[in-house]
Amino acid sequence: MKERTIRIPVPDDWHLHLRDGDVLDVTANHAASRCRRAIIMPNLKPPVVTVEEARDYLERIRATVRRPSFEPLMTLYLTDRTDASQIRKAVQSDHVFGVKLYPAGATTNSEHGLTSIQKAKEALAAMEEEGFPLLVHAEATDPSIDVFDREKAFVDGDLDWICQRFPKLRIVFEHVSSRHGVEFVRSESNRMGATVTPHHLLLTRNDLLAGGLKPHHYCLPVVKTEEDRQSLMEACLTLDNFFAGTDSAPHPRSKKESHSCAAGIYTAPFFPELYAMAFEHRFGAPEPDLESMEGFLRDFLCVRGERFYGLKSSAQEYMEIRRKDQQIPDHYPFGDDVLIPLYAGKTIPYTAEIIAPAP
Ligand code: DOR
Ligand code: ZN
Repeated sequence: MKERTIRIPVPDDWHLHLRDGDVLDVTANHAASRCRRAIIMPNLKPPVVTVEEARDYLERIRATVRRPSFEPLMTLYLTDRTDASQIRKAVQSDHVFGVKLYPAGATTNSEHGLTSIQKAKEALAAMEEEGFPLLVHAEATDPSIDVFDREKAFVDGDLDWICQRFPKLRIVFEHVSSRHGVEFVRSESNRMGATVTPHHLLLTRNDLLAGGLKPHHYCLPVVKTEEDRQSLMEACLTLDNFFAGTDSAPHPRSKKESHSCAAGIYTAPFFPELYAMAFEHRFGAPEPDLESMEGFLRDFLCVRGERFYGLKSSAQEYMEIRRKDQQIPDHYPFGDDVLIPLYAGKTIPYTAEIIAPAP
């Protein structure tokens, strides 16, 4: 009989939104139920700009998480005023692992982001010198650019400029969503990594737009064509600088099912299962060769990101991912509203669980 279980170290999530306040208990514990470490995005209101603010946020997360081995890795939000001294403080700290560039107006809570790439020259030079990673939301903000071409426009404009001006800067191209983005990351592989979300691997714009608009499939960068999706799949399967980052981004239902739907898809409570689901077709679904898929998932979920960030592996706990149906809840509690996850109310073919080491 074929093996029905994948066993890997507890995965990491290299791109995660937890928010703050009364919803943190829900989001942080969902994340902790599936991952060991997570890069925590700084786009709070107000944003996490200083090393001290990142420390306070980290403490709020730690105070609410019930699995103490969960390790949040904090980031700072790059503004027009971020200077070299703030970068050097971050490098010296033991809790900040990167700086996130949001072009102002590109996405949720990005209004304090960069108004011009020129304003970041000092910070980027310090990061290049220190080998400190820049995490990029790679979308242009010019409203005249077609929404489906914004990643390409940013790549050909600001990102190309950054790469030429700072040839040694370490960069993570976050939630890459297009063939064009994939090709760019490939051409900069010596110093660039990319996170890939489960939803960009599972959905295309048909899932967003055909047969009625689906607000819970709306995120930024927007999901694209089947050709783009295939190119992401191929990159993950063949290039070791592409790794898992969910961009799980919680919004209350009232902000999603509204006349101006907030961007973000919520996947944190079952993300390893979603990656297994996305890739199983390449491993022979409906009877996938789980042994081969296990090797790939270990690399994609546990090894590559850690290597890019230069972190140590000290896995104590394991995860089992079974090919066993799981019913996704209709919703989760979320302050005085509710949170609708991807595939709410549907059944997915995998179920994951953290296995603690024997005492
Ligand atoms: O869909 C998204 N949601 N994309 C982002 O870049 C931000 C995120 C959020 O914070 O909601
Ligand atoms: Zn994000």
